[in-house]
Amino acid sequence: MKGVILAGGTGSRLYPLTRITNKHLLPIYDRPMIAWSIEAVVSSGIDEIMLVTGGTHAGEFLRLLGNGHAYGIKQLSYAYQENAGGIAEALGLASQFAEGGPILVMLADNIVEHSIKPMVDAFRADPTGARILLSKVQEPEHLRHLGVPVFGDDGRVVHIEEKPTEPASQYCVTGIYCYEADVFDIIGDLVPSGRGELEITDVNNHYVAKCQMAHDVQEGFWGDAGESIEAYYAVNDFVRQNGANRS
Ligand code: G1P
Repeated sequence: MKGVILAGGTGSRLYPLTRITNKHLLPIYDRPMIAWSIEAVVSSGIDEIMLVTGGTHAGEFLRLLGNGHAYGIKQLSYAYQENAGGIAEALGLASQFAEGGPILVMLADNIVEHSIKPMVDAFRADPTGARILLSKVQEPEHLRHLGVPVFGDDGRVVHIEEKPTEPASQYCVTGIYCYEADVFDIIGDLVPSGRGELEITDVNNHYVAKCQMAHDVQEGFWGDAGESIEAYYAVNDFVRQNGANRS
């Protein structure tokens, strides 16, 4: 299995910090944010990674990561997203890299307390359709900024609502996804959302509709450090005290 780490976007929710650098290069405790997602992916047993970025600071990733060997990456590829066209558009740039095989996708602003290897191993054992990682979120106000799953009576996800005003459950869809290679066909058929982007939630709902969506619930802390300046500091505080990606 190969990994795709998405580190593009304008980072407008963290302005003015992100006027001078890419959001994923801002520090989380003792290293740039991107390093935590790389550690999460590498420690799940994946050593071929494509980093997709964009904007005016893309060259800094090369300066930081080089060939990736210092981070445990065997082969590191880079792709450049010309426009801020959304997460699904960014993922579409990895279609050649995937070479028809299954992929793990991680948004580089997501940080987890515990290893994501159990989810990756589950998809390795049954690499069909898609698999998403959920996290319990108590506050409805927080859920309104995230993708939220709707559960059926059998406990399966029957729909995902992006940034709902009335969250249907107490769980969010984290930015950590496994897909089989037909994900690139699905992305090719997407139409832009109201905010003009190709939405990863539309991709996921495609698999939900085909009954090809599995999920795991991540125990422990999960955070999206790019959600707001408050979330950025909450993630920083947590990682400084507890670390991340612990098995
Ligand atoms: C994206 C996804 C959302 C998900 C979140 C996790 O939101 O669209 O479904 O819950 O990442 O970090 P965004 O950060 O683009 O607002």
